[in-house]
Amino acid sequence: MKGKFITFEGCDGCGKSTQLKMLSEYLTKANIPHVFTREPGGGKISEAIREILLNGKNAEMTDECEALLYAAARAQHLHDKVAPALAEGKLVICDRYVDSSLAYQAYARGLGEEFIRKINAFALEKYLPDATVFIDLTPRDAFQRKHGADENDRLEQAGMAFHERVYEGFSRLASSEKERFIRVDGKQTPDEIFAQVLAALKEKECL
Ligand code: TYD
Repeated sequence: MKGKFITFEGCDGCGKSTQLKMLSEYLTKANIPHVFTREPGGGKISEAIREILLNGKNAEMTDECEALLYAAARAQHLHDKVAPALAEGKLVICDRYVDSSLAYQAYARGLGEEFIRKINAFALEKYLPDATVFIDLTPRDAFQRKHGADENDRLEQAGMAFHERVYEGFSRLASSEKERFIRVDGKQTPDEIFAQVLAALKEKECL
């Protein structure tokens, strides 16, 4: 039996981590076999690529190199962790996935959807999520809530205009794929958000 694949997306600081923690507690209590993972990362090689991508010292990295490294980390991550867990029938929950490449690299960096879809075709064709939770919070609201931002984080140095384009990207993706996306208002309390996420995942028969 094939397991279900759920991804979580949103702007930096949208409250994703809190929701993932709440979901983890819920699944453990409910005895539902699951695997939590994240991108970029989720395995030895993909975590090594993550370190290159998020290191503030690599500011001269080209946009194309960045996009290809995210795709490379994804290919390894799917092979090492996601595919085996799905084959075992487990529920796989991933913190960010290919929609982040579409929002950050295609829209915000301006590389365009065609290029990003092409280099991620292996993921889009074989491992499209059954459901994607988009925590809808604008970067302005998100940044206000975020504490202790790491100043070495290369991506956070990119500034507000960049993050606004990321938000626009997610928003467009969520509107264009209403079947797959679960769009939740991120301004609500964590409990309210979680209740909606849970109800929507049950409705989509992911839980
Ligand atoms: P992380 O510290 O995990 O951020 P967050 O908690 O907001 O998820 O860093 C991941 C960063 O990588 C985040 O800024 C989004 C970015 N990213 C991309 O630009 N493209 C991608 O394909 C992925 C998966 C992430």
